[in-house]
Amino acid sequence: KKISVVIVAAGSGSRFGDPLPKQYHQIGDKTLLRHCVKAFMHFCPPAHIQVVYNEDHQAWLDAAIGDLVGSGGLRPAVAGGLTRQQSVLNGLRALKDAAPDHVLIHDAARPGIDPDVIKRVLAALADCDGAIPGITVNDTIKQCDGHSMITRTIPRETLMRAQTPQGFHFKTILGAHEKFAGQEMTDDASLLEQLGIAIKCVAGSEGNDKITRRDDLSRIGEHFPNKQA
Ligand code: CTP
Ligand code: MG
Repeated sequence: KKISVVIVAAGSGSRFGDPLPKQYHQIGDKTLLRHCVKAFMHFCPPAHIQVVYNEDHQAWLDAAIGDLVGSGGLRPAVAGGLTRQQSVLNGLRALKDAAPDHVLIHDAARPGIDPDVIKRVLAALADCDGAIPGITVNDTIKQCDGHSMITRTIPRETLMRAQTPQGFHFKTILGAHEKFAGQEMTDDASLLEQLGIAIKCVAGSEGNDKITRRDDLSRIGEHFPNKQA
């Protein structure tokens, strides 16, 4: 099967709250974005890798991965949009000419890619249109109203935390993104859920958690550099 990868890196990191966007911060010797690109180059060849970036970040992008463009399937980056969903759509459109069978869509803010997670997601695509890595929930989960008062407890056995890379049959996910363009879903599986398409949840990994706030950098950094390419 022909596989392509979209890495979305066009966000501005409002919750991270630093002038340097989180995808251009370093863990060890590499920026988060470079960790991601290198991981897919090593663990997922042969692939086209399409990075989606923010045009305001041009200099940071060039410094992070400029030297890798043209090697290992890495294409020149394309511009994203105001929402993650729009950024993914732009990335998928840019891959149309590559006509991949399957696509992996990944957040640049998840630098700790585990090769076994990639394998599980791709393996699940043999009999599913979509597959995502998920982590079981350990805490008791409360739903609260607008006044911080508990309204109910949600049985945690039914819950998974969604990670990326999320894998899909390329035509299916591109069609869904075109159909639902303008929504603001924070992951890609959500679009197929709206179409009633079955999606499998495979085991993710803790090291693959997303960098959202400043203190996530040191927490996720603990998993490095051992498993990294
Ligand atoms: N992303 C993107 N385009 C956007 C928004 C997000 O490509 N318009 C990317 C981010 O760069 C990140 C991934 O989607 O790699 C997950 O998004 P998130 O963690 O929410 O990052 P930000 O949107 O940058 O952060 P925040 O929501 O705190 O502003
Ligand atoms: Mg965001």
